[in-house]
Amino acid sequence: MELAHIITERVAGVTATAKAALHEPLFEGNELTYVKDCIESGWVSSVGQYVDRFERDLAQYTGCARAVLVNNGTSGLQIALELVGVGHDDEVLVPALSFVATANAVRHCGAWPHFVDSEYATMGMCGPSLLAYLDEIAELRGESCINKRTGRRIAAIVPMHTFGHPVDMPAIMAVADRFRIPVVEDAAESLGSTLDGRHTGNFGRCAVLSFNGNKIVTTGGGGAIMTNDIDLATRAKHLTTTAKLPHRWAFYHDEVGYNFRMPNLNAALGCAQLERLESFIARKRQLTLRYQAAFDGVAGVRLFVERPQTRANYWLQTLTLDSDAAGQRDAILAATNDAHQMTRPVWELLSTLPMYRTCQSMETPVARDLSQRIINLPSSPQLVQGTR
Ligand SMILES: Cc1ncc(COP(=O)(O)O)c(C=O)c1O
Repeated sequence: MELAHIITERVAGVTATAKAALHEPLFEGNELTYVKDCIESGWVSSVGQYVDRFERDLAQYTGCARAVLVNNGTSGLQIALELVGVGHDDEVLVPALSFVATANAVRHCGAWPHFVDSEYATMGMCGPSLLAYLDEIAELRGESCINKRTGRRIAAIVPMHTFGHPVDMPAIMAVADRFRIPVVEDAAESLGSTLDGRHTGNFGRCAVLSFNGNKIVTTGGGGAIMTNDIDLATRAKHLTTTAKLPHRWAFYHDEVGYNFRMPNLNAALGCAQLERLESFIARKRQLTLRYQAAFDGVAGVRLFVERPQTRANYWLQTLTLDSDAAGQRDAILAATNDAHQMTRPVWELLSTLPMYRTCQSMETPVARDLSQRIINLPSSPQLVQGTR
């Protein structure tokens, strides 16, 4: 049998459903109760008890000192970059293999993405390649890291925890320390993932989560800036809430702020979803074991599993094709989708998109290779029976 058909059969066997989405939200806890409470109380908009509570709950869950809710992960990244000092015409090191928002947020600050290769072990930014590359193209001038080729400042590094698998953050932090570059973790996909027992988002100056509808925990749309730097959190709250000085009635704004607030209605959903997160992760881990068993002995494919010392949230289950099976990727995508088992390829490399094609980039052989060999499989927690 052809690989495409073997995979389709195995995926359908694991999902045990005639139609499996890539990732569906699951509302089985207090979602309706909390949202109803917002509606009945009239507190549906930009302030309210669920905004305060979700920020507290997220901080407690992740071990970060503060969480600042925002309207989505992309605007969270923009503010995080601005707050670590990224400005007009700076460069920001981002993975070539990421969702487009990672690079877009850089441009929203008026800065330029500068693309970095991945490593096979994590699918994320490769510390050793980055170190060798910066040794060649960058130099420290005072406290600033300057790209000798462009003359521009390299103002931040944004590692991204792909599909919930933590980047090797100690390796990235060593490079960042050596070149004095602040780190913003794009943790949009990694709520619940840890490295050496530390939650992702605790390694850089700050991090950003996403609660988009397809994420492990959703608020419909939303995000959060996470940090252990209280001053940065205070600035983030101020900037994202129109820079208004607190007062009982006066409208006084002391800088050009943003209206990037998460409404109470969405935060209510988030509170209820966070209560269910550990159950979602347990089910996703169970799903990983089922896929692993299903693909055991199938030549040409391997399920991506967490590295030692990490706990992945397994947001999206990931199949990696062997190099000699990479040519069959599109046939596999077609066969699985035809059978209503929703699969997806990974993103096009950001450095190849029209708006980023002329940006700075190191050689990205690993990212390019991975981009042709990754297939995401149906990953919803409801594919596994839960225990309440
Ligand atoms: C890696 C990554 N970064 C950033 C984002 C942006 O988040 P949002 O969709 O909430 O703006 C997402 C998800 O959508 C993502 O997967």
